[in-house]
Amino acid sequence: MSSSKKDSWFNIPQGIINNIPRRLHLQKDHPVCITRQIIESVFPAPTFKYYNDFNPVVTTQQNFDSLGFPKDHPGRSKSDTYYINKDTLLRTHTSAHQADVFRENQSEGYLISADVYRRDAIDRSHYPIFHQTEGARSWDRAKVPNGNIAAAVLSDVQKLPQHDIEVEDTNPPFDDKTNPRQKEHHSPEEVEAISTHLKKSLELMVAEIFTRAQKAAFMTDPNFEDEPLLMRWVPAYFPFTSPSWELEVYYNSDWLEVLGCGVVKQDLYINANVPSKIGWAFGIGLERIAMLLFQVPDIRLFWTQDERFLDQFAGVSDDLGSLRPFIPFSRYPICAKDVSFWLGASPTAGGNTKANVHDFHENDVMEIVRSVAGDDVENVRLVDQFTHPKTGRKSMCYRINYRSLERTLTNTETNQLHDKVTKALVKKLGVEIR
Ligand code: PHE
Repeated sequence: MSSSKKDSWFNIPQGIINNIPRRLHLQKDHPVCITRQIIESVFPAPTFKYYNDFNPVVTTQQNFDSLGFPKDHPGRSKSDTYYINKDTLLRTHTSAHQADVFRENQSEGYLISADVYRRDAIDRSHYPIFHQTEGARSWDRAKVPNGNIAAAVLSDVQKLPQHDIEVEDTNPPFDDKTNPRQKEHHSPEEVEAISTHLKKSLELMVAEIFTRAQKAAFMTDPNFEDEPLLMRWVPAYFPFTSPSWELEVYYNSDWLEVLGCGVVKQDLYINANVPSKIGWAFGIGLERIAMLLFQVPDIRLFWTQDERFLDQFAGVSDDLGSLRPFIPFSRYPICAKDVSFWLGASPTAGGNTKANVHDFHENDVMEIVRSVAGDDVENVRLVDQFTHPKTGRKSMCYRINYRSLERTLTNTETNQLHDKVTKALVKKLGVEIR
């Protein structure tokens, strides 16, 4: 990051910067690393090449423009993304490297695993740093007999192993209105063949993951309801694939969205100087999968250095078959505190223009709380809001749950923490405490 000069766009708190070197996906025997290894085992070398240490600092060109994100896409805003300067940021997804890898990579497929950064809510399943694995598989028109991509891809489909999980796939492979094929570039047969290969490959990956999760669940709870696993394909939208899909899994009586994918936009291959290639790509978040695999109840646990957490996974990186669930150590008590404030200029004090209702972003509240209380805050949620009938000013009330993963916070300590949080909200957002 040292090479990129900060400017007025810079918005990365020190707590995030401190965690950049952690790279949990590379820390042996860490659940995030084990999850990456399981995914890699389904996409073997040499067909797939693995990239695991790309630098998290990328350009807006890599993260957005190269993927066809429109200039006004909300993901580009400072309230969603960590910027070093106007043109440089912490990648928000592993897709930031797609174009570069298509340009440089001569192999048929690749997997990229990395830490990604997003300003977001605070709760048990969101953390501003998480990890993703991105995968792609390409075929080269110039290298298959008669340029017949569809036939070549379908013959590769035949080589894939079987799985026995039921799949619901009720939509057509593409739909000109809702999930279009790229007409100028791909024939219907080509899209169908690529989509079939894409779906089979990702079903196999998800089957592998969830069969392991079920096995692990059985180890701790012999009464674990062994519901049959079910997957379903749901149409989706991403600027850099078309048609696009999400794969959902029915697990623990709930439909879970596990990954996004689609047929790669041909512009990516064209811009990467490999216009004769065609293929698919997917992206999957590792923490949510790791939480299921290991039954980890709180995403903050992945960041703890507490041996009571880390020691439980010893040896699993070298023997994925020995995967076992996490056994929670005692939970420390929770302490909830509310903070209520007015947005907009105070009618009496002349007010602070920073607290303008339109400039208010909930993610700023999240980040200020996190910058003061760090991982001692479990979640923050809006519990009440109203507009004053006379002054028209808007009031918000947030409930902050404080709980440490490592010890009991005393009441005095929590009060001091909450007091600091309140002062930081006033100072940084210019709000008026009620
Ligand atoms: N990058 C997308 C995300 O973070 C996931 C994705 C990757 C979708 C590759 C399609 C293809 O949501």
